[in-house]
Amino acid sequence: MSTQPKARRLTLSDLGKRHQAGEKLVMLTCYDASFAALSEAAGVELLLVGDSLGNVVQGQDSTLPVTLQEMCYHTAAVRRGSERAMIVADMPFGASQISPEETFRNVVPLMAAGAQMVKIEGGREMAETVRFLTHRGVPVCGHIGLTPQSVHQLGGFHVQGKSEADAERLSEDALALEAAGAAMLVLEAMPATLGEAVTKRLHIPTIGIGAGVKTSGQVLVLYDMLDISPGKKPRFVKNFMAGAENVQAAVAAYVREVKSGIFPSVEFSY
Ligand code: KIV
Repeated sequence: MSTQPKARRLTLSDLGKRHQAGEKLVMLTCYDASFAALSEAAGVELLLVGDSLGNVVQGQDSTLPVTLQEMCYHTAAVRRGSERAMIVADMPFGASQISPEETFRNVVPLMAAGAQMVKIEGGREMAETVRFLTHRGVPVCGHIGLTPQSVHQLGGFHVQGKSEADAERLSEDALALEAAGAAMLVLEAMPATLGEAVTKRLHIPTIGIGAGVKTSGQVLVLYDMLDISPGKKPRFVKNFMAGAENVQAAVAAYVREVKSGIFPSVEFSY
């Protein structure tokens, strides 16, 4: 019989303690068991089963076609491949843009598949849903700024919050989500100054992707930072494979650079 203590999965209170201690949080997207094990071994704390799998795994040109069933399939695989990382799963398009009750019904299979937290795109309009879920034991991560599920309304994948009015609207969205009980907030594609201002106004951790270095943590799409997804990458993507000996070393370099506040430098920020 092994005498090794069983690995313990990161909990919400562990996350809170790390955030309170001023530690940068490291999130990376993940869609399967092998990358889950490798990323965790490299030090990634939060595995995001992102609906970006629509782009990088399925070859779609947006995240819109991804189904709840597909999210559950990939979440279960990531869960089986990891032991310690916290698993956050995206609510796909259409699964949360409905009533809070129906959203809860859609959350059930994702949590059953192994998610510890669900991520929902949108600002204050999602506050009622966030409140409903958190009151029923479901930790929620908000996602504001560039929200890819709204690509058609946004008119493309553009940096958000550039005008004073838009920046203020995003700040108010962040406050509304926190007040509704969100445990964490992803800030995507916005000026670094806004990423910092929003982070300072909140008590919950912010996870930036193209929101500058002053957020509480960072996330990237795994296939982008390994430079294996085709096409032009957004400015905030750094190729961590460049100069790395292997994939695990590339992910470990990402973890190191986020933890030490080296990434993202100005070159990877707006
Ligand atoms: O789906 C995803 O990968 C995401 C990240 C870009 C934050 O939502």
